[in-house]
Formats: sequence, C-alpha cells, structure tokens
Amino acid sequence: MPTTLLAQVDSSIGGKTAVNSPRGKNLIGTFYQPKHVLVDVEVLATLPDVEFRAGMAEVIKYGAIRDVAFFEFLEKHVSDISARNTDVLEQVIFRSCANKAQVVMADEREQGQRALLNFGHTLGHAFETLGEYAGLRHGEAIAMGMVFASWLACTLGFCDDSVESRLAALFDAFGLPTRPPECTPKECLNIMALDKKVRRGKVRFVLLEALGRAFLHPLSLEAIEPSLAEFLSVRC
Ligand SMILES: NC(=O)c1ccc[n+]([C@@H]2O[C@H](COP(=O)([O-])OP(=O)(O)OC[C@H]3O[C@@H](n4cnc5c(N)ncnc54)[C@H](O)[C@@H]3O)[C@@H](O)[C@H]2O)c1
Ligand SMILES: [Zn+2]
Repeated sequence: MPTTLLAQVDSSIGGKTAVNSPRGKNLIGTFYQPKHVLVDVEVLATLPDVEFRAGMAEVIKYGAIRDVAFFEFLEKHVSDISARNTDVLEQVIFRSCANKAQVVMADEREQGQRALLNFGHTLGHAFETLGEYAGLRHGEAIAMGMVFASWLACTLGFCDDSVESRLAALFDAFGLPTRPPECTPKECLNIMALDKKVRRGKVRFVLLEALGRAFLHPLSLEAIEPSLAEFLSVRC
C-alpha cells in the first residue's frame, strides 16, 4: 500500500526491490512481484509538498519517454495537480501506473525497453550518492538528470532545443530543480562508473529524439565528460 506519490506511480509497480549501499544506489537487490498493489489517492492529502514534488518527477518521466499526450496533459493541468485535485490526480496516477506496467510486462528483467525507465537516473543517481542520500530527494536528483540527458540529446543532434526547454519548464512549474548541485564532472563520473548499467566503460544512456520518444545510446564516460563539464558550469 504505497503512501507517497513516488511509490504509487513507480516503486510499487514492477517488483524491483533493492537497497542502497555506500558503493552506490540500489546495487543489491532482487525482482519480487507483489500479489496486489492498493493505491488510495486520498492518503496524498497529508503528504508533504516536497515529497509530492519529488513524485511528480517520475510522473513527468513517463510522459517524456513514451507518452507525449500525457506530457501535454500534465502541461495543461499544472495548477489542478499542484492543488491535488482528486479527480485529476487519479488520472495522473492511473496513466503513470499504466505506462510503467506496460513497460514491465514487456520486459520484466530489463533486457531491453525497461531500461528506458532509467531516463535521468544515471546522472541523477550520481547526484544522490554525492549527497549521501541526504541532501537531495530521488525525484529532485532525477529531474536534474533528465534535464542533462535531454540537453545532451540536443547537443548530440538527436532532438531540437524545445525538448529540453519544455521538460525544464514543466519541472520548474512543479517546483523541481533543473540546475545541478555544486559538484565536479570527475566526482559525477567516478560514481557513474559504478552504475549497474555500465558495460565495458560505456553507459547505456537514455536519450530523447522527441518528447514521448526515448532510446538507448551507449556512450563512454570520456565522451560524456566535456558535455557534463559544460552542463555543470553553465548551470551553476
Ligand atoms: N523499486 C523501485 O523501482 C524504486 C523506484 C523509485 C524509488 N525507490 C526507492 O523508494 C525510496 C523512497 O521512497 P518514497 O519516496 O516513497 O519515500 P518514503 O517512504 O521515504 O517517505 C517519505 C516521507 O514521507 C512520509 N510519508 C509517506 N507517506 C505519507 C503520507 N501519505 N502522508 C504524510 N506523510 C507521508 C514518510 O514518513 C517519510 O517521512 C527510496 O529508497 C528509493 O530509492 C524505489
Ligand atoms: Zn526513479
């Protein structure tokens, strides 16, 4: 029975159970599906704003990677969602769960498309680890990670600037950070090197070719470094 927005739209679905260790986020875990998940929108009435905002980062992620109509719905309903209008929230949560469930049913063990759910998480996890899981909430860290990933996709010529600007504007509208915390590219890259998704020095980065269309693109950590350095300096 998930009681945070983040747990209702993300952690409660898909059977990924993992624990954090000093070496990195979620490095130790197993797949274990629940028999039932019971989501009650009304419990969110008492959820602190900062936790609500953090959950919105995962909600926006679904729109960005695979559901542009949902992304547009979120853009149109910022004030109703922020006011936690129950009817709109029910739609938001249902649509998020449906998106996650479709991905997980097609690829439970993350052999392929489930990895698209990691959009923003490669750098986001580095930000979280640097803050030793204390300074930043998961949702806040991945919001900044998604802004970087969309900016990187534009820099590499995969999409136009409007993708990053619309994504950043939507995070901003929900009070999520879009500028990275103070840190150096080396600090981030050292942590990214420990990521589960790194194979032979390459990260399978989730990039966007448009809002609602994500794809995996292997990039070496060295190839990311100049863009990351620019992102961290321009944005600070
Ligand atoms: N397995 C996955 O796929 C997955 C995905 C995302 C996050 N996670 C993990 O989930 C954990 C974070 O869980 P979370 O974001 O649900 O936060 P949480 O369970 O830590 O709760 C956050 C805070 O809100 C309070 N709270 C919770 N529900 C409330 C309510 N209805 N009313 C008032 N207060 C309430 C809690 O007491 C706590 O202080 C992290 O460890 C993260 O790594 C897992
Ligand atoms: Zn997440």
